[in-house]
Amino acid sequence: MRKNIVAGNWKMNKTFSEAEELTDQIFLSLEEKSLKCDVIICPPALYLEMTSDYAEESRLKVGAQNVSEHEKGAYTGEISAAMLASIDMEYCIVGHSERRKYFHETNDQLAQKVNRLLDYGIKPIFCVGEVLEEREKNIHFDIVKKQLEESLFHLNKDEFSNVVLAYEPVWAIGTGKTASPEQAQEMHAYIRKMIAEKYDANTADEVSILYGGSCNPGNAKTLFSQNDVDGGLIGGASLKADDFMAIAESFE
Ligand code: 13P
Repeated sequence: MRKNIVAGNWKMNKTFSEAEELTDQIFLSLEEKSLKCDVIICPPALYLEMTSDYAEESRLKVGAQNVSEHEKGAYTGEISAAMLASIDMEYCIVGHSERRKYFHETNDQLAQKVNRLLDYGIKPIFCVGEVLEEREKNIHFDIVKKQLEESLFHLNKDEFSNVVLAYEPVWAIGTGKTASPEQAQEMHAYIRKMIAEKYDANTADEVSILYGGSCNPGNAKTLFSQNDVDGGLIGGASLKADDFMAIAESFE
């Protein structure tokens, strides 16, 4: 059975003490609640070790927001998969649209990042999604197909079984404009169909596909009730423990 997951992408937010406070609130809330999903937080790299310490004592899981495509060496400012593995990182976001846009990450480079993570037993949370113009031109399926083919479909079935996917329509990120449940379901079903064609029905059935883009406590339930939506990758609403945990409680 595939997993329901709610993951918080904190992006470049929070000072150390604020990050500690938020982690503590999520940790305490997880102690009290019985949830129908895994909860992952993805803080800035500087706070990964602190949050990992919390995770050791809890059901909370932690992911990084980025990794270098290089193994090691003279890449000032970068963090390698080996470094993440050395602090027991379980997940890492790859291919977020902000990294594609502002840091010009290409599908090919993202494939290398996925390889590095899998080499070290870290599960990629791989993001795909179209910009508004692409949806308006009705080429959103082609865009997502290309992202999957060029960054993930070199993996064999066993390797692929470690990947979590996130469909994040770029026009819905941080805009308050959520994709409708029907739009999310349509794309998630398409992604699952592509995976079934590339690998097999079982692999497609097992992969968790999260929705991301202005997901909040008010819309999470309807989104997560769609057949092929297995949870969310949450930005803004993951910065407040109450909102984030309310989203995690949205599974029927
Ligand atoms: P928002 O939830 O703020 O729209 O961000 C979504 C996102 O980019 C998560 O990775």
